[in-house]
Amino acid sequence: MENSANTKVAVIGLGNIGRVVAGNLAKNNRPVIVADRNLEKATLLAGQLGDTARPLSISDAIKEADIIVMAVWFNAIKEIFYQYEALLAGKIIIDPSNPIAPNDKGGFDKIIGENESAGLINASVLPEGAKLAKALGTLGAATLDAAANQQPESSVLFYATDDLSINEEVEKLILDNGFVPLRVGGLDQSIRIEVFGDLHEFGALGKAVTLQEAKEKL
Ligand SMILES: NC(=O)c1ccc[n+]([C@@H]2O[C@H](COP(=O)([O-])OP(=O)(O)OC[C@H]3O[C@@H](n4cnc5c(N)ncnc54)[C@H](OP(=O)(O)O)[C@@H]3O)[C@@H](O)[C@H]2O)c1
Repeated sequence: MENSANTKVAVIGLGNIGRVVAGNLAKNNRPVIVADRNLEKATLLAGQLGDTARPLSISDAIKEADIIVMAVWFNAIKEIFYQYEALLAGKIIIDPSNPIAPNDKGGFDKIIGENESAGLINASVLPEGAKLAKALGTLGAATLDAAANQQPESSVLFYATDDLSINEEVEKLILDNGFVPLRVGGLDQSIRIEVFGDLHEFGALGKAVTLQEAKEKL
């Protein structure tokens, strides 16, 4: 892997979250590869984001990037892990997923056990040699867009990792999204930063917070 300034990042899945993450990176001049199962969608988005964004197929994006943001629904992550297992060895995988699905009351229900987290479940099926960070999923897409590069004080994005060797890259990615990073601990803390968790916008946190506010919550 190249040093931090030059590591390549790809966003896979260009829905609500993937588009905002790619847009935040592009606005902050961090080159970003965009990929989706529909290449046309990636080409269109890259055209809107300008020269810092480049569209590729999912397999080419994984081959080329060092950091892969899996901006797809929780259940699709393990499909991608399985399908691209060999290519994902050695990559840093960023998991923003929340283990939820729409219910018939217009809300969302958790689709795994009450005390389970997507972070730990995804860690258990991680391709060999890949490294996982739970990050970029603690705010809704609208807030992730609106609170990026906030002045005069940045908002926080929490993250969780077991492998400390990737923290610098994860923090740089969060900074390049226009937020300040704050590690909550290992992947066993993921539940706190997923939907319904005490550090999630759609949980007890309720909103984007500054570093000082975030440290008080920790
Ligand atoms: N939305 C939020 O506010 C929010 C906030 C925090 C975290 N998250 C998490 O972020 C993730 C993405 O959420 P979202 O709201 O952005 O979802 P979304 O708008 O439905 O976008 C998901 C994207 O992933 C693509 N996709 C689905 N399965 C795929 C696969 N197997 N391979 C490649 N691409 C695939 C979809 O393509 P198609 O259009 O072809 O289906 C779509 O472009 C979820 O895990 C969610 O829990 C979302």
